[in-house]
Amino acid sequence: MKDENEVTGTNETEDTLTNRQGHPVTNNQNVRTVGNRGPTTLENYDFLEKISHFDRERIPERVVHARGAGAHGYFESYGMVGDEPVSKYTRAKVFQEKGKQTPVFVRFSSVVHGGHSPETLRDPRGFAVKFYTEDGNWDLVGNNLKIFFIRDPLKFPDLVHAFKPDPVTNIQDGERIFDFVSNTPEATHMVTFLFSPWGIPANYRMMQGSGVNTYKWVNKEGEGFLVKYHWEPKQGIKNLTQEEADEIQSKNFNHATQDLYEAIENGNYPEWELFVQILSDDDHPELDYDPLDPTKLWYKDDVPWQAVGKMVLNKNPENYYAEVEQAAFGTGVLVDGLDFSDDKLLQGRTFSYSDTQRYRVGTNYLQLPINSPKKHVATNQRDGQMEYKVDQGKNQNPHVNYEPSTIGGLKEAENPGREHTPNVEGELKRETIDRTNNFGQAGETYRRLSDFERDELIKNLVNTLAPCRKEIRDQMIENFTQADPEYGKRVADGIEAKMKEMESAESGPIGTTKTEEAVQDAQDK
Ligand code: HEM
Repeated sequence: MKDENEVTGTNETEDTLTNRQGHPVTNNQNVRTVGNRGPTTLENYDFLEKISHFDRERIPERVVHARGAGAHGYFESYGMVGDEPVSKYTRAKVFQEKGKQTPVFVRFSSVVHGGHSPETLRDPRGFAVKFYTEDGNWDLVGNNLKIFFIRDPLKFPDLVHAFKPDPVTNIQDGERIFDFVSNTPEATHMVTFLFSPWGIPANYRMMQGSGVNTYKWVNKEGEGFLVKYHWEPKQGIKNLTQEEADEIQSKNFNHATQDLYEAIENGNYPEWELFVQILSDDDHPELDYDPLDPTKLWYKDDVPWQAVGKMVLNKNPENYYAEVEQAAFGTGVLVDGLDFSDDKLLQGRTFSYSDTQRYRVGTNYLQLPINSPKKHVATNQRDGQMEYKVDQGKNQNPHVNYEPSTIGGLKEAENPGREHTPNVEGELKRETIDRTNNFGQAGETYRRLSDFERDELIKNLVNTLAPCRKEIRDQMIENFTQADPEYGKRVADGIEAKMKEMESAESGPIGTTKTEEAVQDAQDK
């Protein structure tokens, strides 16, 4: 049999340029024309193939988290959670034996702006990990900060619209951001982190990660536990002040990607330890917040962090587009022993990720090497755009792409343990949760910041709020006051001083546009 890679044709070597049909390209400098001045002719297949492929080089970028960097590595399990065997809480194979290694791919990102935006912006950072486990893929799609702006997924598109550039001016506008935030009291806690130095991590290697949402662990008996995940960088944590970020941005707007890439190229492999917090699977009425509320921290004093493994990133991608851009993570991607909690935000996310990926990457996005599990896959799913591999299992009757069947085909797997069967009962309704406590933890976080971090927080808030209209400023001051009276007072005093400064300098808003003016402008047209 002929080797399929064997080079054919006269004078052709492995380095010979061909088109995608395998035709050797003999002239890559000139299109085919009538005479050497043109016009060009339309049957020029090499040119048409080259230019039309180029025309399609971009897929839509991620609607959020468009700017990112990725790396490969492995996760190593400790086999224990604290002093106890991990099997007491979960049967997930990835955690069982001490020293067991599982390959991972990680993508870090910033959230609001586009694919080539500066990496110095005040913005949460994404921390998405794909574990290629022996039971199939597990994605832990987290952020650097441990909480989120909202708890109801219905609000996510509005949140993102407010933070993205103004649809008229295409400029991010602090007034639009705080217009939304001031009317969304549960966001006060996240904003307290975001406008402190924690809102600008120095790079990707020196930041924490968190699953944010509450998940579940399930053991062999089918018993469930509430769990939160946290990544702690062994490199230490480093954040930037606004001035430090501005300084870096004036010289390099790719600094975080570069830092990660160069560290790995130089063999300086970044590592994170994975911690979990575990609670029994119930409502926890003793807490003044709901344990499923993603706007809340589970304080370490109440629920200890327990190490369960570590992750090392030791290989850069070979092709940014194929691996990083086309990577698709989702909160629905869990393996046996890991489960969802009733956290509404988590359930909303779980629909959104694979939905956007079918649109962004394509129906068969799971066939791409970066997304495909590194284990046996056999399904009756067929066809669709870009189908190239029929996952039907070895020795299967190729006529049977359905199940059940007596004449061949795939069979259901056995359940590896008792099913986790939570009992859910209640009226179907649209209502906020009971224990909202929107300001308590925001105040506590304000008080727990260091003096320096608190000063930075106030300064950053004042600079962004001062140019906003009065109703928005007043509502934000009210929200901060509810969190902590000193917090509200410092923001109010700061705004007053800043406005005097602005008036005397007769300067306009700093770093923001006025929505009011833009709307007026648009109406005038
Ligand atoms: C990316 C939706 C909340 C972390 C995305 C994407 C969507 C999305 C549509 C783009 C995915 C893609 O194109 O592949 C949502 C919705 C949310 C939500 C609907 C709330 C209802 C969160 C939260 C976190 C988070 C709370 C942090 C725990 C991420 C990360 C990415 C991402 C890290 C980038 C993944 C990557 O690197 O490809 N989100 N998100 N999101 N989201 Fe969310």
